[in-house]
Amino acid sequence: MADVKKIAVIAGDGIGPEVVAEAEKVLKRTEELFGYQFETEHALFGGIAIDEKGTPLPEETLKVCQSADAVLLGAVGGPKWDNNSKELRPETGLLGIRKALGLFSNIRPAFIFDCLKEASTLKPEVLEGTDLIVVRELTGGIYFGEKFRRETANGQEAVDTCAYNVNEIERIARQAFEIARTRRKKLASVDKANVLETSRLWREVVIRVSADYPDVELEHVLVDNCAMQLLRRPSSFDVIVTENMFGDILSDEAAMLTGSIGMLASASLGEGSFGLYEPVHGSAPDIAGQGISNPIATILSVALMFRLTFGYHEAADSIERAVAEVLDAGHRTGDIAVDKSKAIGTIAMGQLIVDAMRK
Ligand code: NAI
Ligand code: MG
Repeated sequence: MADVKKIAVIAGDGIGPEVVAEAEKVLKRTEELFGYQFETEHALFGGIAIDEKGTPLPEETLKVCQSADAVLLGAVGGPKWDNNSKELRPETGLLGIRKALGLFSNIRPAFIFDCLKEASTLKPEVLEGTDLIVVRELTGGIYFGEKFRRETANGQEAVDTCAYNVNEIERIARQAFEIARTRRKKLASVDKANVLETSRLWREVVIRVSADYPDVELEHVLVDNCAMQLLRRPSSFDVIVTENMFGDILSDEAAMLTGSIGMLASASLGEGSFGLYEPVHGSAPDIAGQGISNPIATILSVALMFRLTFGYHEAADSIERAVAEVLDAGHRTGDIAVDKSKAIGTIAMGQLIVDAMRK
């Protein structure tokens, strides 16, 4: 008997429950096709947890996540909670869960489905073959450094500080090399080593770690150049690893290469294989409850979970192939449809993908 993988399922708010329900059907189909076993446990998180438990991140939700091998998350938030105090806001729960689970990197794949090339603002021939992953450090850098204001002879001055230690750089570098190893074995480390001291340390550590990965080809790219190259030759990148703020910007840039937000998956990882997987999009309150949201980002998040946490590459291939097949056949949810009158709903899209999965 296969070993049972425990998955904490957090549907969340808005369209979260709709898209997560379709992803769970994909989990079931994977069990049937490949003989894997998943034990799912649902937990409350975000706005719904505020309403029912008085906190965005209840203790028992954290326990469910901590005892799981991976977490599948829909999305949280919505106008209902926007004016709440900080501790009663869904986003506070997001920061809290990442911290409590020790998740220090954010992973975003960007690849092109051939038939959706027209949805991108870039020329199809530039996009051809694009399949990259941005690995962003999530817990350090200027977002978390000391910040303050002071009075100077020239008036008020604001200061943000950027700090990285060797351990923080080394752990994310290793993770990126490991991911590159499962792919085309190319890693681009992005920094600003011509100007920033944190970047000089970043580069030193990445070079030292690279000695353990002689099979992975390493290049160093300055962040401003990387921003250009992503638009000029996106297909030349495989894995990109970078610090927090550069990663924030570059991962959004990379995401837009592929078109719609309803298509993009993400993972947050810590030490070891544990990970939290979620679509890049939010709870889309404007379309929640209408059954028209695109479940593909969440379904592709399951494929990412199979790759990065469980090493179930065949099953991940099966999901990604099924999605491509359904899109190739012309099926579209409203967000990716050219002719909106022909758009199909969330459940129909989920079912088509489940039906297209093969061993
Ligand atoms: P959003 O991603 O929820 O929506 C942006 C636009 O994209 C909307 O027009 C929406 O209808 C559309 N959209 C998003 N996902 C879609 C899907 N799967 N299918 C079809 N259309 C889709 O971003 P927005 O509106 O800025 O935020 C809404 C709420 O979500 C806020 O409360 C925000 O804080 C929260 N949020 C939560 C995140 C999370 O849980 N990690 C991430 C981003 C936002
Ligand atoms: Mg951002």
